[in-house]
Amino acid sequence: PASTTEPRAGDLTVGGVPLAEIADRFGTPVYVLDEGEVRERCRTYRTAFPDTEVLYAAKAFLCRAMVHWMEEEGLGLDVCSAGELELAVTTGFPPEKIVLHGNAKSPRDLDTALRLGVGRIVIDSPSEIARLAAAVGPDGHQKVMVRVVPGISAGGHAKIRTGTEDQKFGLSISDGYAQHAIARILDQPQLELTGLHCHLGSQITSVKPYLSAVRRMVGLMARLYEQHGLVLPEIDLGGGHGIAYRPGDEALDLTTLARKVRAELTEACASAGLTVPRLIIEPGRAIAGPAGIALYHVLSVKRTGGHTFVAVDGGMSDNPRPALYGVRYAPRLIGRRGSASPALVTVVGRHCEAGDVIAADVPLPDDVRPGDLLAVPVAGAYHLSMASGYNLVGRPPVAAVRDGRARLLVRRESLDDIRSRDVGL
Ligand code: LLP
Repeated sequence: PASTTEPRAGDLTVGGVPLAEIADRFGTPVYVLDEGEVRERCRTYRTAFPDTEVLYAAKAFLCRAMVHWMEEEGLGLDVCSAGELELAVTTGFPPEKIVLHGNAKSPRDLDTALRLGVGRIVIDSPSEIARLAAAVGPDGHQKVMVRVVPGISAGGHAKIRTGTEDQKFGLSISDGYAQHAIARILDQPQLELTGLHCHLGSQITSVKPYLSAVRRMVGLMARLYEQHGLVLPEIDLGGGHGIAYRPGDEALDLTTLARKVRAELTEACASAGLTVPRLIIEPGRAIAGPAGIALYHVLSVKRTGGHTFVAVDGGMSDNPRPALYGVRYAPRLIGRRGSASPALVTVVGRHCEAGDVIAADVPLPDDVRPGDLLAVPVAGAYHLSMASGYNLVGRPPVAAVRDGRARLLVRRESLDDIRSRDVGL
C-alpha cells in the first residue's frame, strides 16, 4: 500500500514537475499537492476496504479540488463545520455522502447541515439531541449516529488522543452516558439512529486499538439489541491511521488493518448474534499527508549558541505541528546538489518566538545558504488547515501537480486580503 512506501514527496520532481520550477512560478512558501498521490491513496483505501464507506476527514486539508477528487474516487466526506460543509456542497459534492461531526456544533453548523441535507449528524452530547430534534421539526427526518468513548488509549500524542475517558469528545460507554443518550434519541421520531461512531485518536500505528474498539462497540450494540430490540446498521471507526513523516518511521499497514478489523467485526457480531453492520472509516492524514510538500526559501543561516539556525520564509503559521506535538520532519535541499558533507542544523521559521522551529537537529549539506530552496515532505495534512494569521505574514498558496503540469488551487493570502478584513478605526 502507498502508505508503507517511502513518501515520494521529497523527490526533486513531483507529479512530473521540478519543485524548483514550482517555487519560481508561485513563489515561496508554497504547498504542493501531488494529485496522483492523493488519488492513489484513495484507491488504496477503496481496494483494502471493500464493502466499507470511506469518508475523507476534511479537517486534514480541504479545498475545492480535494472535494472534486474525493467525489471522483468514490469517497464520502467527514466535515466538522459549516465552512467545510458549505465548501463541499457548493463544489457539487452530494450532501447525503457527508457526515457532520463536532463536540460543540454551533446553530450555524446545524442549520447549514439541515438546509443542505447532510447525510448524517454525529451526536456528541446530550444537549444536542433536543436542539437537533427541534431544528429538524416534528415532520422532518434526520439520520444521526452517536459518538461513543470506548475507553482506549491510542494515538501519536496526548493532544490527539480521543478514545480515553478524560477528554472532551463523545459519550462514555462505561459511565452509561452513551446508553442514556441513545435512549433519548429513540424517543425522538424525527431522528433515525443509524449507528455508533468512535474516533480513537490520530497518528495511530498499531492495529490493536481498532480491534479493541470493535469489540467494545459491538458489545454495546448487543446490549442495545437486548434492551431495546435495536438493530444498528452502521459502525464508524473514525480515522487516525498513522503515516511515516521521515524515512524509516513506522506507518499503519492499511491492508492488515482492513483484514483484521473485518475479521474481528465478523467474529464479534457472530458471537453476539448480531448481523454485521456496515463499516465506515474516516481517514484524513493518510490520504492528504504524504501527498503534500511545503517549499521554503532560506532567508538566513546563522551560527549561535552552538547551533546552526537555518531560517526560512514560513514557519509556525503554516506548520504549527512541531510546536504543538513535537513532530519531527526531514527537510531536504532542493534545486542544487549541495556539498556532500552533512551538518546538523535546526530549521526555524520567521515568526517572533523561539518555539517557531520546523525541524531541530536535522542533517542538511553544510554549505546551505540564503537563497536555497528547502522542501518539507509529508506536509499535506494539518498544515494549511491549521494555518494561522500570526504576525500577519499571510497564508501560503496551494499548487497541484499532475502529469508534468502545475496549477494553482488556492492563492496566497495577500496584504490586500489582510488589510481588507480589518474594517475598524
Ligand atoms: N474522524 C474524526 C471524528 C476526527 O476527529 C479526525 C481527526 C479524523 C476522523 C481523521 O483523523 P486522521 O485520519 O487524520 O488521523 N491536528 C492534529 C490531528 C488532529 C486530528 C483531529 N481529528 C495533527 O496535526 O496531528
